[in-house]
Amino acid sequence: MNDSIASTRSQTGSWEWLTETGGTLTLVERLRFAPAIGRTFGRFAMDRTRLAFRVSPRHSYGAVDLWPIAPDSAFAERSEEEARELQSTAVLHHGYRTWVFGAALARLDDAPLDPELFHAGALVHDVGLEHIEPGQCFTRRSAEAAQTAAEHAGLERDRTIALMDGIAMHISPELRFEQSALGFYLQAGAMADLTGIRAWELPGDLRARANQAFPREDVHRVLSRCWHAEAKAVPGGRAHFADVWGGFSRIVRWLPPRL
Ligand SMILES: [Fe+2]
Repeated sequence: MNDSIASTRSQTGSWEWLTETGGTLTLVERLRFAPAIGRTFGRFAMDRTRLAFRVSPRHSYGAVDLWPIAPDSAFAERSEEEARELQSTAVLHHGYRTWVFGAALARLDDAPLDPELFHAGALVHDVGLEHIEPGQCFTRRSAEAAQTAAEHAGLERDRTIALMDGIAMHISPELRFEQSALGFYLQAGAMADLTGIRAWELPGDLRARANQAFPREDVHRVLSRCWHAEAKAVPGGRAHFADVWGGFSRIVRWLPPRL
């Protein structure tokens, strides 16, 4: 189905890497990612402390300034349809909050981000997690959902590839902005929502509005269970790596942030 789409990159975590490997890391790649786990624990402890003590961010923006505008396009509409059809309410709402939080963090960083691609990417980035397939990283199925919406709406080829790369890369440890702007802010938005990393930088009224517009349901229990199932289904994959060495599903389940 996707053989016609070739990524411009073959770096670990990219769409091309996914299609070549199914998402399995080599020993060298695992060793390269290992230090990132320790740094992420450090970031988690620091940011959760800031959140608990209500440390004020170094800006004066509020929800009115940072709430993203939903794109008005055939592609945005199709992406929302895919997201609603393929996900439970809890995961769908996590996708919307990832969109809000990721877009807000990009604004705070003054980082350029394609708003239409980011909206679509956020909504479908976890589609694959609720449709586990042994031996295949879930981000491949999420990227394929984005591709289906893109092809249906006639999205440009280079933007389709950027979107698929971003979704494929969003679970790579310590992804850098230069590798994929989309992937970087998908990861930032999702991590703010599930673990609280960088959440203290988001205004309290923005977090409250996101929770009200897109209720959290039992997202921590649902996504923890899905992530653990994915880790077992793809041994050697990035989800397995994050679960075994980073305890990701247990952190999501037992230490949810109060946003
Ligand atoms: Fe996510």
